Amino acid sequence: MAKKIDSQDSAGFIGWIDERFPLSSFIKNHLTEYYAPKNFNFWYLFGALALFVFVMQILTGIFLTMHYKPDAAQAFASVEYIMRDVSFGWLIRYMHSTGSSLFFVVIYLHMFKSLMYGSYQKPRELLWIFGVAIFLALMAEAFFGYLLPWGQMSYWGAQVIVNLFAAVPFIGPDLAEWVRGDYLISDATLNRFFAFHVIALPLALAGLILTHLIALHEVGSNNPDGVEIKNYKDKKTGIPLDGIPFHPYYTVKDLIGLTVFLIVFASIIFFAPEMGGYFLEANNFIPADPLVTPSHIAPVWYFTPFYSILRAVPPILNSQFPGVAAMGLSVIIFAFVPWLDKSPVRSIRYKGILFKKWLGAFVVSFIILGYLGTVPSTIWGQFPNVLPLLGGSDVATVVARIFTIVYFSFFILMPIYSKKSITKPVPTRVTMK
Ligand code: HEM
Repeated sequence: MAKKIDSQDSAGFIGWIDERFPLSSFIKNHLTEYYAPKNFNFWYLFGALALFVFVMQILTGIFLTMHYKPDAAQAFASVEYIMRDVSFGWLIRYMHSTGSSLFFVVIYLHMFKSLMYGSYQKPRELLWIFGVAIFLALMAEAFFGYLLPWGQMSYWGAQVIVNLFAAVPFIGPDLAEWVRGDYLISDATLNRFFAFHVIALPLALAGLILTHLIALHEVGSNNPDGVEIKNYKDKKTGIPLDGIPFHPYYTVKDLIGLTVFLIVFASIIFFAPEMGGYFLEANNFIPADPLVTPSHIAPVWYFTPFYSILRAVPPILNSQFPGVAAMGLSVIIFAFVPWLDKSPVRSIRYKGILFKKWLGAFVVSFIILGYLGTVPSTIWGQFPNVLPLLGGSDVATVVARIFTIVYFSFFILMPIYSKKSITKPVPTRVTMK
């Protein structure tokens, strides 16, 4: 990274501010004289998009909170009121609900980019770990938010997930009761989920995003070639030879990406805000009823790969804990990737075919598990008993078990295949392929 700029030589109003607050030096250090590799491709757009969507979720969330009532007797009606009577309430609500799904689309692509280009390898381990913490917090944020409309799926989805805590050995039932604040999902639960959704987790997310960006600017960005641009600097200026100022080059590039994103975003909001039940489920337009269990309870699409893992792992001694533990591990395991990857090269461009195949298998397993998680569990049970050896009573269970094994093998076998995979020579400077 280029040397930090401390001197403040601006005049006038900006000079007045600079004497009291490091405005110009901040802009220089982090934008106009922050040198990013010149070979960023479209995958490098998603970090900026994630930041944009985060800010949009906060802003639309503030407006929703002005009209929403966190009260079991009024919550559902207050959301209907927002949709029908509040000026542009429908737009704000659809921006927020579509925003949450697109947030996960963007984050999954952002994580995939990092896996492809080895952006978690030394010295970016902490940057990656902050990312994994953001991902966990984001999942919690989305889960708490989903209870708030107090529809059937909000209620029963929360019931299923909170009940998972009851599977923890010894303390489980007490733990589930403590999380709910009651013996069943109730007004007390709604109030605490509201507090977590509107203040605790947004604060945690904002703090984590800040640390993520501080870590990024400390070590500098990786790039599609995975070569360190800091190794080749101009002898006089100390500027990396393969670096270009983030502003204006990447601010302009990101603006183009943002425009495309906004076109997609607006098309969904105006033409398919429920996205065929994937973004907003039909059952959630029915008020929560503790006496009527929907026949098909499924989480929103972005949780379904992990939900499938939960369902695929069989209970042991009548305890659901193995499934719950496997589901937790399927997310936490990302944090270990910097130490599991033993490849001497970073980028997929120079890694061997073996690594590429495993990454491909991981993506396929993620998508198939995601699909299976959306399929009703009643259908899982309706297939003929095809492969009893795998312990499955139906095709869906067997397929889910196979891909759960593939999912975990990608991580667990990584130290072996990443070391064995024959790499290509890495160029010393970035390429402009
Ligand atoms: C709200 C969520 C997030 C925001 C706002 C965010 C923001 C950013 C930004 C602006 C960048 C630089 C541009 C880019 O490389 O695309 C970046 C880089 C990075 N992020 Fe994130 N991020 C988020 C979540 C995550 C998650 C969940 C992970 C991984 C689990 C992650 C891992 C990384 C890594 C490894 C880099 C460095 C990439 C490279 O230099 O090649 N981020 N992030």
